[in-house]
Amino acid sequence: MSLAGITKEERGESMTEALIQMKHICKSFPGVKALNDVSFDLKAGEVHALVGENGAGKSTLMKVLTGVYQCDLGEIFLNGEKLEIRNVRDAQSKGIVMIHQELNLMNHLTAAENIFIGREYRKGMKLFLDKQKQNRKAADIFKEMNLEIDPDVKVGDLSVAKQQMVEIAKALSYESKVLIMDEPTASLTENEIEDLFSIIRMLKEKGHAIIYISHRLEELAAITDRVTVMRDGTYVGTSNTHEVTTDEIIKMMVGREIFVTKQGEFQHKEAPVTLEVRHLHAGKMVRDVSFTARKGEILGFAGLVGAGRTETARAIFGADPHESGEIFVNGREVKIHSPSDAIRSGIAYLSEDRKQYGLVLGLDVDINIALPNMEKYHKNGFIQFAKSEKNSTEQTELLTIKTPSIKQKVKLLSGGNQQKVVLAKWLTKNSDILIFDEPTRGIDVGAKNEIYKLMNQLAEEGKTILVISSELPEIIRTCHRVIVMYEGRITGEVSGAEINQDAIMNYAAKKA
Ligand SMILES: Nc1ncnc2c1ncn2[C@@H]1O[C@H](COP(=O)(O)OP(=O)(O)OP(=O)(O)O)[C@@H](O)[C@H]1O
Ligand SMILES: [Mg+2]
Repeated sequence: MSLAGITKEERGESMTEALIQMKHICKSFPGVKALNDVSFDLKAGEVHALVGENGAGKSTLMKVLTGVYQCDLGEIFLNGEKLEIRNVRDAQSKGIVMIHQELNLMNHLTAAENIFIGREYRKGMKLFLDKQKQNRKAADIFKEMNLEIDPDVKVGDLSVAKQQMVEIAKALSYESKVLIMDEPTASLTENEIEDLFSIIRMLKEKGHAIIYISHRLEELAAITDRVTVMRDGTYVGTSNTHEVTTDEIIKMMVGREIFVTKQGEFQHKEAPVTLEVRHLHAGKMVRDVSFTARKGEILGFAGLVGAGRTETARAIFGADPHESGEIFVNGREVKIHSPSDAIRSGIAYLSEDRKQYGLVLGLDVDINIALPNMEKYHKNGFIQFAKSEKNSTEQTELLTIKTPSIKQKVKLLSGGNQQKVVLAKWLTKNSDILIFDEPTRGIDVGAKNEIYKLMNQLAEEGKTILVISSELPEIIRTCHRVIVMYEGRITGEVSGAEINQDAIMNYAAKKA
């Protein structure tokens, strides 16, 4: 049962069994020791989970294995033979391929073009692209994966789930033996996750070895054989997945126990209505949406993908236009045509897609937090940098953002820590109505809990909070009341003790 401290011999494994062995890997960046003497092994035909808090070093370890980074110290073996991996191509040629946390596809190219980018099929003395052959080859791979994707479709027109599948197809086209998936399910819904799992099981049966990074610990039992835990750049332990509980894994990840509390009944039923939306129509995905939210209330929006939750939020925030309907803030009708109208009315929206809407990756943490809040720091035509830095430092501590300093470029932070920076800048805004869209995507269990506490605190201070989340446990745990949507319409509402998975799912699949 115990994880750490078991030798391979005790586990009945011999060293030769490992397909990949990483030994004593060290890697530092300026101001950060990302990996400190980490060892890791992977067997043929296994799905091996790699877990740890945000910034623990998971992505970095895998980037060392795939040649994105060179390690400072340490060795890598493939089938017992020492490997020199100098770049991504070296790794690919050995059949080691990674699907990154942020997908790397070209939206304007087709699925087939993305798969074979840089190694296109050619004809006529290699002068011309052999589009037919390329599409045929892509179709073969999709067929093998039991997928219905047109090789000729532009990747930008596919759902995130399908884009993920194209990335996997691309990885398979390299005849990969080792496939690394960095948080593949972070943006997928339940059904899509099941599809991904079927593909993983099929790959496993065909003898591929898979390294699976995820913050959704409840998935591990369904799909992985072993789990390795990292903490603060070090190796903590490895165990057979079915021999550990989620609680034990969490304890190894964070070094302490985490207590989870469920939200109770909303106590201030007579509190003033702060936000009222009447008969909102916006495009196909928002159909006659009406609801109210009160001061101090945490209101959840649940539903399947395509239910129209994000579209509703975007319409309220003025990020997308709406055709008809009224929005009232504190009892007064407000006309919202753009995000700045919404912000002026006291509404902030934390987008689900941090990369596209949230952050300027090339700028530092402090500036990213300050950017939407400049009006706070202006005085007599000058920007009060010290004030902004003080706030950024406080937010960094409050949200436990792991960074050597607030002057670090955001693109150098780990995925989960980038998400926390997005949170920090909207919290700084201090708006009265906060819309959180997938607030904890990619965030580790410990920090998630901190964010739930923070939401409670904000609600208690009198803010109104709207939460959109595809993770039902998150909705169930955090919300006083939950609105369920299906195909752009509200199909039901549950509150207090009635909030549970069955009640929500019942409405989520129902026509209004
Ligand atoms: N190119 C880089 N330059 C500087 N620091 C980096 C770089 N890449 C990663 N780091 C730092 O190394 C540490 C480990 O980051 P890594 O991305 O491996 O974490 P992770 O375990 O994948 O976290 P998450 O769950 O948030 O994705 C972090 O502190 C991160 O800020
Ligand atoms: Mg990562």
